Amino acid sequence: MKFYANWKLNKTSLDTIAFFQEFNKFSLNNTDEVCIFVSSPLITTAIASSNVSIGAQNIAVKTWGALTGETSVEQIADLGCEQVLVGHSERRNQFGETDDVIAEKMSLLQNYDVKVVLCVGEKLEERENMLDIIYRQIKKALSKRTDLKNIVIAYEPVWAIGTGLTPTTKEIEDTIISIKSFINSEYGINMPVLYGGSVNLQNVKDFKSIKDLDGFLIGGASLDASNFIKLIEA
Ligand code: PGA
Repeated sequence: MKFYANWKLNKTSLDTIAFFQEFNKFSLNNTDEVCIFVSSPLITTAIASSNVSIGAQNIAVKTWGALTGETSVEQIADLGCEQVLVGHSERRNQFGETDDVIAEKMSLLQNYDVKVVLCVGEKLEERENMLDIIYRQIKKALSKRTDLKNIVIAYEPVWAIGTGLTPTTKEIEDTIISIKSFINSEYGINMPVLYGGSVNLQNVKDFKSIKDLDGFLIGGASLDASNFIKLIEA
C-alpha cells in the first residue's frame, strides 16, 4: 500500500533529522511505498532513506514569471521531489485555488517527470451530493491533460481532515469503488485511489481491509516516526 505523509507546515530541520534517524531504521515491506510531502524539500532529500520518496505540497501555476513566494515544478524536481500534491483542500479553501487553477497545474505537470497526487473531496454541507462534487473536481482537474499517466487520486473529505472524524469503513469503500468506476468509464483506465482524513492507529487496520483502497494520505499521524511506522505495520 501507499503511505503518503502530508507534513503541512510542520518540522524544522532538526525535527526532520530526528524523524529520519528513527524512520531510517525501519525496513519497508516490498509491497509498501512511502512518500513524505514536505514544505522544504532540500533538507529532507538530503537525509531521507533511499526507500522513501520526497514530495512537494504544491507547485506554482507557471514555470517562470513574477510569482513572488511560489516554487515551480522545475525547482521542486531539481530539489529531488518525485511527487507533488495538487488540489489539497487547504489550498482550495485557504488559498482560493479554483478547479481552473488546479487544471492548469495538472496540465503543466504532464511535461515533467513528477507524479501527482490529486486531492478531491466534499465539504460537510456537500455530503448529500458528494459524488457529483468529486466527479466534477476530477473531470475539471483532468480536462487539460492529454495523458493520464502518473496520477493518483486522494479522496479526502474536507470535514475529516484534522478533525478526528471519518466516514465509516463501508462509506469509504463505497466512495473508493465509485471513484474508480467513474474514472474507468470516463477515461478507460484504472487509477490508484487513496483515502485521507484523520487516519490514525485506531482506524487504520479497519481501513486497510478495504480491498479497492491503494493507500493513505496521512497528516497528523505521520509526524511522529514511531507512530507512522506503527501505522504502516498495523
Ligand atoms: P490528517 O490530514 O490526517 O491530519 O487529517 C490529512 C491531510 O490533510 O492530507
